[in-house]
Amino acid sequence: MNVTLANAIVTYQKLHHFHWRVSGDRFFELHARFESLYDRFSEILDNVAERMLMIGGTPVKTLTEAVATATLVEDAEIPAAREMAARIMADLKAQREQMLAVIAAAEQAGDRGTVILLDGIADSLDKEIWLLRSYLAD
Ligand SMILES: [Fe+2]
Repeated sequence: MNVTLANAIVTYQKLHHFHWRVSGDRFFELHARFESLYDRFSEILDNVAERMLMIGGTPVKTLTEAVATATLVEDAEIPAAREMAARIMADLKAQREQMLAVIAAAEQAGDRGTVILLDGIADSLDKEIWLLRSYLAD
């Protein structure tokens, strides 16, 4: 579950970076979209960390630890707007897959609260992935 948290932290920063640096004729739509997504990830990472504490886990304590724990990688590049959307979509897909593995383990352990929390998050990522896929489909 720390991987879930760490991935959300990396994504939160990446979304800010792209929100700040997106440019061109897709600026307004992606600037706003990335903002709504980092707001969503602010909630996600908080809910995941608090769930970890409820079940006796230890959430990552520093950004360094988060980056080392995450399966997603940071992005210091400033790609074209469309590529930014594609990279975010790929990250959301990877996170969703990682969450499904955690959900399976939580089901196995009878941890209903974690299943409910991550199921909801995975479903919401499903919708975001569809929105981005549709956006990129021209
Ligand atoms: Fe802003």
